[in-house]
Amino acid sequence: MGRVLVLYYSWSNGNTERVAKELADACGADVERIETAVLYPEDYDTTVDQGKREVEAGFEPELQPLKHDPADYDVIAVGTPTWWYTMAPAVRTLLNSRKWNGKVVVPFSTCAGWAGSTLDDIAGLAEGARIAEPLTVTFGSDGGDRMVTDPRKVTDWAGRVAALA
Ligand SMILES: Cc1cc2nc3c(=O)[nH]c(=O)nc-3n(C[C@H](O)[C@H](O)[C@H](O)COP(=O)(O)O)c2cc1C
Repeated sequence: MGRVLVLYYSWSNGNTERVAKELADACGADVERIETAVLYPEDYDTTVDQGKREVEAGFEPELQPLKHDPADYDVIAVGTPTWWYTMAPAVRTLLNSRKWNGKVVVPFSTCAGWAGSTLDDIAGLAEGARIAEPLTVTFGSDGGDRMVTDPRKVTDWAGRVAALA
């Protein structure tokens, strides 16, 4: 039985955290939230603007140290909210600062209806990994915490990921 680690970033409402925790529960996985060394402003619109500039620049913010080392796991699920049609900058830092060869990477994202290329972009940065079971979960278009995707779809997916290990 392979070991599963769920790594995720979440900023607005904990939408990505909710999906990450359900996945971790289904897999009996270790789970860790990644966090930037410098936190984003609490004001939503200010962070939306800052996020846009950072995504456009390909900025990689410094992260707080991880407690779990992805190198110790076989399957690593990487979750992010969609920020400007791609992953949040913190997840870009994570993917570019580790080696993924020989791992199975499960990309997952949450969004407000415009997922863009988030999952493909994660797959593109997880160089050398086998990509499995990518999933986007859509929440309310107001940026809130109402899940629009059928929750059964998330539960089924979590079961399939558990079966990978
Ligand atoms: C900086 C920023 C940019 C966003 N860009 C998008 C986007 O391009 N497409 C989209 O559907 N939602 C976008 N959203 C909404 C979030 O992806 C969505 O609300 C997500 O579920 C929030 O997850 P969280 O609560 O884990 O942070 C953006 C939110 C923020 C804060």
